[in-house]
Amino acid sequence: MELTNNAKRMLRAMRADPERTWDLDAILEATDWSDQAHVAGAGGGLDEAGMVVISEQRTNLWSLGPEGEAAAESGLLEARVWEWLSARDEGSRGMRDLQASEAASKQEAGISVGLLKDVGVPLVNGSFSVPGNTAAIEATIEMRTEFISALEAGSIAEADLDGGLLDHFRGRKGLVDSEERVARTWRLTARGIAIDDEELEEILHVAEITPDLLQGEEWRTADFKPYDVDLPAPTPVGGRAHPMQALIERIRAIFLEMGFSEIDGDFVQSAGWNMDALFIPQDHPAREMQDTFYLDEPESIELAAERVAQWADVHESGGGTGSTGWGSGFSEETAGKGLLRTHTTVNTIRYLADKPNEPCRVFGIGRVFRKESIDRTHLPEFHQIEGIIMEPEASLPMLVTTLKTFYEKMGYPEVRVRPAYFPYTEPSMEVEVKWRGEWLELGGSGIFRPEVTEPLGCKWPVCAWGMGLERLAMLVLGLDDIRQLYLSELDWLSRQPIL
Ligand code: PHE
Repeated sequence: MELTNNAKRMLRAMRADPERTWDLDAILEATDWSDQAHVAGAGGGLDEAGMVVISEQRTNLWSLGPEGEAAAESGLLEARVWEWLSARDEGSRGMRDLQASEAASKQEAGISVGLLKDVGVPLVNGSFSVPGNTAAIEATIEMRTEFISALEAGSIAEADLDGGLLDHFRGRKGLVDSEERVARTWRLTARGIAIDDEELEEILHVAEITPDLLQGEEWRTADFKPYDVDLPAPTPVGGRAHPMQALIERIRAIFLEMGFSEIDGDFVQSAGWNMDALFIPQDHPAREMQDTFYLDEPESIELAAERVAQWADVHESGGGTGSTGWGSGFSEETAGKGLLRTHTTVNTIRYLADKPNEPCRVFGIGRVFRKESIDRTHLPEFHQIEGIIMEPEASLPMLVTTLKTFYEKMGYPEVRVRPAYFPYTEPSMEVEVKWRGEWLELGGSGIFRPEVTEPLGCKWPVCAWGMGLERLAMLVLGLDDIRQLYLSELDWLSRQPIL
């Protein structure tokens, strides 16, 4: 067993006088320590190593109790009453006189009766009867008083006190108190005596490497504390982006890296651009008040007459796209209604309307609004990741590959698509990602229908998709409840991974 430096030092000190029994003070002096905890620690180690034996002596240490302190200050009750009695004649040593005097309080006067009887002054017919010879009485009171003043100077071991007097005072309430003290002594064993001096050389233990240490020579023989990389350490928490913002940045980086440019748009839109331009029939249930936030301000938005005519044509009869349209009448008023955009596809279609003849790859990440009741998987405000590819060779396989590539870069390599329906795409697909063994639906996609692109003058196929950002965030952060994302709980936020 390796001895500590302190144990070595204590052992060296004791070996200067191998046969001695050492008490605490002797060891403190010999080791030049001022802290007795060193002796206890080093002595314990030496005991375990079989180099010293420890003996313990338990002693009771006596000191004054609260009543004892009072007696030390103003005299023991029996001494005070005796002094009073001694100064008076026989006829005026009655209990009443004592009670009326300053020598004792009323209560003390009562107690003093027993005490005085005990020293040889009984109360007879209400009066203290003082004997002729008072020498013994005075001697007893004197001894008791001395006992108290001796303790006043400091506590005294039981062995050094008069046993009879101690017994007496123990029987009186609050006069003396005791406390057990353990005194230890240390003695070398044969093993402690025999050990080689060489083994008692102190070694420098290094827990921290400092420039000072390296400048000296001592480190060469030092013992280096191993560095434990498994020890728990505090996690530093600093300011950083909200996980949603961090996720948006990551998605943005992926699309930019894949050669896409970013587009943006307003929250407030007309039903015309949000729906009619996308060939969503005017009686489509998603357009109802209970699904869409229509606005009072602006209640309606002015639209270019040419645009309205175009949508009316397509909706009513197909507008020369080869489609028959929805057949029913088209309301300009319905198209003009102001609303909060229900999907980011409105950005895409407006972009295409602006630049129908430039091949493009664009994406956008934006907030959308729907009248959803809030629950574990729904929020009335959420974000979509939207994008299109328009070019001569744009095709369904290209669309699938693009989505797969995106999710793969996000860390979800298993992606599948399933047939779906949207009024503005044909074919239409649902995109699903495998997470914890389950297929989760993350968004919609497809090739824009001719009813959508032809009136704008687009010449090439357009691959389009729109996916939920919060759903993806749930996967990335491992959440069961979408609401957690917007609770702003600092504790939760600080525990989120860096994305
Ligand atoms: N706009 C659709 C939605 O909100 C998603 C989508 C976008 C579908 C583009 C097809 C093409 O769910």
